[in-house]
Order: sequence, then C-alpha cells, then structure tokens
Amino acid sequence: MMKKNNRPIGIFDSGIGGLTVAKEVIKELPHEDIVYFGDTARLPYGNKSPRTVIKFSVENTKFLLKFGVKLVIVACNTSSSIAIPTLRRRFRVPILGVIKPAVKKAVQITDVGRIGIIGTRTTIESKAYQREIKRLDPYLKSFAQACPLFVPLAEEGWVDEEVTLKVAKMYLAPLLEKNIDALVLGCTHYPILTKVIRKAMGKSIKFIDSAERTAQDAKRILVANSLCAQRKSRKGKCRFYVSDEPAVFKKVGKWFLGRTVSARVQKV
Ligand code: DGL
Repeated sequence: MMKKNNRPIGIFDSGIGGLTVAKEVIKELPHEDIVYFGDTARLPYGNKSPRTVIKFSVENTKFLLKFGVKLVIVACNTSSSIAIPTLRRRFRVPILGVIKPAVKKAVQITDVGRIGIIGTRTTIESKAYQREIKRLDPYLKSFAQACPLFVPLAEEGWVDEEVTLKVAKMYLAPLLEKNIDALVLGCTHYPILTKVIRKAMGKSIKFIDSAERTAQDAKRILVANSLCAQRKSRKGKCRFYVSDEPAVFKKVGKWFLGRTVSARVQKV
C-alpha cells in the first residue's frame, strides 16, 4: 500500500487558470506529487449559477479522491467563493480554497485600509471576498468589480494589447475613484494580465495574487497534519487531466505554468 504521506495533492480548476496555483505549489512543495484537474469541457465557471458551480466542484473533488489525494486545493476563485462549505461538509479530506490566503495578505499589506477586489461575475456576486475581509478586520473597506472579459483575453494571449488595456480601463475606472492601495486579483487568469492592470490602476497599487499565499497555506496544512511526502530524494511528479480535448490546454497551459504541460483527457 502507498505510504499515507506520499499520496498526491489534488488541485482543480475550471480549466487552465489554476495552473498559476499549481506552479506555486510545485515551487513551495517540490517533493509532492500533484494531480491537477481542469474542467475544460464545462468552463467558464465565472458566469454560472452558484448551484451549478457547487455541483461541478463536488464532481471534481470526487474525481481527485480517486487518486487518494491527501489535500484538495480549489484553485478556481469562483468555486472557492461558492463551494467550499459544501465540499468541507461532504468530504473528510482537507479542502483549501484561494479566498482566505489572498485576503490574509491583502489585510496585511494595505496601508490605507481600502482594498479593491476583481473577479468573475459569480465570484463578485457571492461577496465571499468582501465577507472574509470584514471578518478579518471589520474596519477595512472593500470595493469589488467583476471583469468577465479578462478571462477570454488572457486565454487568447492578449496580455499587453491595446484592446485589453481599453477593457481594463473601463472595468477599473470605478475602483480608481475609491482610493484603494491594494487590489486582489481574485481570478486564476488575472496574474497573467498584471501589466495592463497596472497601467490602468497606476504604479503605486499593490497586487495580491492568491497563488503564492495558497501554496504557503498548503504547506502549513501538510506540516500541521504530518502529511508531508517522506521522499526527499526525488522531485514530485505532476499529472494533468482535463475533461475536454487537451490540445488548447497544453498550448495555453505553458503560459500559466511556465513550462510544458502534458495532459490526458479524463471524463468526469
Ligand atoms: N477559474 C476561474 C476563476 O478563478 C476563471 C475561469 C472561469 O470562469 O471558469 O474564477
């Protein structure tokens, strides 16, 4: 039987974007095996109803559990903002979302106590980020803005085009007026667009990308629960699964993961 601690970490996302989280997990926990699932057949999640997002998130978790994962990281912000309570109720495996890690960092780094949040429509409407900020510090002010067109622009690779800057300026104009000093990039795809978002928001704004902090929290959970891999002699292996044709995932995945992705299609 496989040693308990050497079981893989499971990560799921609606598609490619969660590879930004996988990248940080690989950096933070280089000896851990990872099973990544991108639900490419059913994306985007960002404009779907909470009910549907919960249903998909439960199915994705079940899929990962078939690999005996010891921790499930919900890399998708939309799933994280909607489905975490249901997943924790239904499954015994530790479940880590991306909202809390990002908010912890935002609360730490804001000097003026005014935090902006951008994400998909469903994420912003769920108010998960806003609630978490209030919970950590009731005196902080948060301002949220949905930016639904950012996902297709990032997947198109239009990360520094005129059209993307125009879209960014339109979405972000209301946030500019709020005098925020920190902005949560509350979607897997937004770190790819940092350059244009900075151009639209100005140089002094501090960005919070949840991927890095989530990877640090994953490490903390493994250490606290004595779940770290026991093999220090070899690097962890990554397996990638998608629910639709893997060609696009492989091509675009490179930009998100920073290295080549070999994916198998697996229907859930
Ligand atoms: N992964 C989603 C998120 O972070 C973005 C893509 C989608 O809408 O499915 O919210």
